[in-house]
Amino acid sequence: METDSILTTNMHELFMSRAIELAKQGRGHVSPNPMVGCVLVLDGDIIGEGYHEQFGGPHAEVMAMRNARKDPVDGIAYVNLEPCCTTGKTPPCTAALIENGISEVYVGMLDPNPEINGKGVEALEKAGIMVHVGILEKEANRLNQSFNKWITHKMPWVIAKVAQSANGYMGLDSETSIWLTGDVSRTHAHTLRSEVDAVLIGRQTALIDDPSLTVREVSGENPKRVIMDTNRTLPLSLNIFNDKKAETYVLCSDKRFSKTKTHFCQYLPVREENNILSPIHVLESLAKEGITSILIEGGQKILESFLSADVIDQIFIYTAPDILNDAHLKNPIQLSDEWMISEEEKLGDDTLIIAEKGVECLQEL
Ligand SMILES: NC(=O)c1ccc[n+]([C@@H]2O[C@H](COP(=O)([O-])OP(=O)(O)OC[C@H]3O[C@@H](n4cnc5c(N)ncnc54)[C@H](OP(=O)(O)O)[C@@H]3O)[C@@H](O)[C@H]2O)c1
Repeated sequence: METDSILTTNMHELFMSRAIELAKQGRGHVSPNPMVGCVLVLDGDIIGEGYHEQFGGPHAEVMAMRNARKDPVDGIAYVNLEPCCTTGKTPPCTAALIENGISEVYVGMLDPNPEINGKGVEALEKAGIMVHVGILEKEANRLNQSFNKWITHKMPWVIAKVAQSANGYMGLDSETSIWLTGDVSRTHAHTLRSEVDAVLIGRQTALIDDPSLTVREVSGENPKRVIMDTNRTLPLSLNIFNDKKAETYVLCSDKRFSKTKTHFCQYLPVREENNILSPIHVLESLAKEGITSILIEGGQKILESFLSADVIDQIFIYTAPDILNDAHLKNPIQLSDEWMISEEEKLGDDTLIIAEKGVECLQEL
């Protein structure tokens, strides 16, 4: 009896982890929506699978129905996020499950969106469907951590990324552009870019490095680009203003400017405090633009400012094997006790450390 129930639990987790795997295929394409996957099971066999592929496109449950190899009547649905019960860009998913005669639904986690939270489950139960919530809940939460934070706190998930020398310097000085880490780290960092909605840098980094901030080493969508330039002094000859590869925001002082869009970029005024742009207001403003996750790529002053505002959720430190002599640009990130190292890996000759605040160490699903 006990063995039976363990087997059943494992089976539910197996189907749910498949739903999570499917959901991941939407990464980089569905934001600001969450990533959702759905598996339809009949008599113990998977008869249909689907995921939310594109923002504005059909949701996972509808895709799974469309892809079903058999009539799903009396089938069981596994979905990592509570099915929606509202009409947005598409009809409610609860209707798709009810209309197709699904008898049971296993849900990874409730939708934190207050418009849906619990109401999707209620609608299914009202229609006589048995609902079980919380299968692989931790993993389901983890998958959509950006969406969860954005929808509940109206702030994006914030990742700080830094490349440093073996002796902890992120460059020689503010005026010099220098490459520290190797090709494997570069590819890894491009994957990271492809997984966020936006990348943010400071005025000096834009000026000195003249980066594109695009995804080139792997396939994936380019994130939006965000540059903090209080007084709009950056020259319009920079790559970000001319390559047309991604939407570009320039954050500037609300004391002098108002929201405007030009041929080069979108100017977004944010609160200026003590002669710099307020990190908290920067994040609130970007959240309003639908940005659910942001990668802060530097430089030193920007990192310092976001660190002291205590708004960073996750840190990626890429460390090169070589010492940088006569350097002045110290990496300001100190992994104090509140940070937990969740991953450490070798990337060619470099080492990557990923740290997070107060979360359990979880392997990537
Ligand atoms: N190793 C790495 O991972 C890495 C990554 C990126 C950059 N870098 C290097 O870092 C150097 C540039 O760093 P940096 O520290 O000199 O400059 P930075 O952080 O790139 O830019 C700082 C400038 O951003 C503007 N800013 C607006 N709001 C701000 C805020 N809240 N906090 C801080 N700055 C704000 C200020 O200019 P305004 O007042 O004019 O707006 C400030 O002077 C370059 O050498 C670059 O190559 C290294």
